[in-house]
Amino acid sequence: MSPTNPRILPYGAAAIAEAAALIRAGGCVAAPTETVYGLAADATDSRAVAGIYAAKGRPSFNPLIVHVPDFAAAERIAVFDAAARDLATRFWPGPLTLVLPVRADAGIAALVTAGLDTIAIRVPDHRAMQALLAATGKPLAAPSANASGSISPTRAAHVAASLAGRIPLVIDDGATPAGVESTIVMDGRILRPGPLTQADLFPGEGRGQVATQLETGPRPPPGNGEGVTAPGQLASHYAPAKPLRLGAMIGQKGEWLIGFGDVTGDDTLSASGDLVEAAANLFDALHRADAAPAAAIAVAPIPESGIGVAINDRLRRAAHPR
Ligand code: TXA
Ligand code: MG
Repeated sequence: MSPTNPRILPYGAAAIAEAAALIRAGGCVAAPTETVYGLAADATDSRAVAGIYAAKGRPSFNPLIVHVPDFAAAERIAVFDAAARDLATRFWPGPLTLVLPVRADAGIAALVTAGLDTIAIRVPDHRAMQALLAATGKPLAAPSANASGSISPTRAAHVAASLAGRIPLVIDDGATPAGVESTIVMDGRILRPGPLTQADLFPGEGRGQVATQLETGPRPPPGNGEGVTAPGQLASHYAPAKPLRLGAMIGQKGEWLIGFGDVTGDDTLSASGDLVEAAANLFDALHRADAAPAAAIAVAPIPESGIGVAINDRLRRAAHPR
């Protein structure tokens, strides 16, 4: 990708057509939502989702939010109870993300949910992201469109500065109206504060307070969505039930070996040693290892470079669950 990337195209039919073609080809594109600019990729394509992490240089696989055009599309992916349906009816499209059980047949890449059986989903209220959803016909996974560790972008220029050389295209539709990331709700509780408040969501209720972890630390300044984390997120990772050994060159007796590159095993993250492919396969491979008859799991060494840092972070957490 040329260092002059990303190109910035003003919102319009040409920009949407080009962005949709990139996404259909498995790429990722930045587009505004009503909260912040998101880095969108096809949520059903694990390799495309791995590309999001690679572009952001994100050192761990936090589960991502999936964007869909309407409630009907959301219902095909997640299971709604009455309370969730009520919130969706009242606030979608809008800056509300619901964490709900994911349907087994939803076709969402395991990397999106970090292997969990829940999914974060929302219907954005912005013409650009809505046009992209319509043009691709795909659910779009989209975290904030900034390099890991920097603040969330509210203008196309922020995206271009943060992800220079790492993504092909930003759709520019001016400053985002809300400027902070969506409010995340799970089981009637706010996991991440956002544009919709406790009083908006749960009027007249004493429950559903913002989780205490968020109250104890300093609140980030407006626009700094990166500092706002869902309290569940550290535990929000799939951990295999079996012991996991890292850096394995060969499988020992009773172990299921997940290979990489020259280390062949019972399975492989990437036979060609491609780290993006490995990231895309990671959660699926761990699930397969858990389901295999072997009593333990071993994983080949993964280079600590690029998205390999995120893979190793995730593997270390899986090997030493809290
Ligand atoms: O406003 C927004 O929500 C922006 C725009 C682009 O839509 N998107 C965004 O996505 O903030 P992201 O991926 O940066 O934030 C996802 C948050 C993380 O804190 C993650 O831990 C949480 O959602 N999350 C995702 N899936 C979850 C799950 N199954 N359970 C608990 N938390 C989850
Ligand atoms: Mg973010």
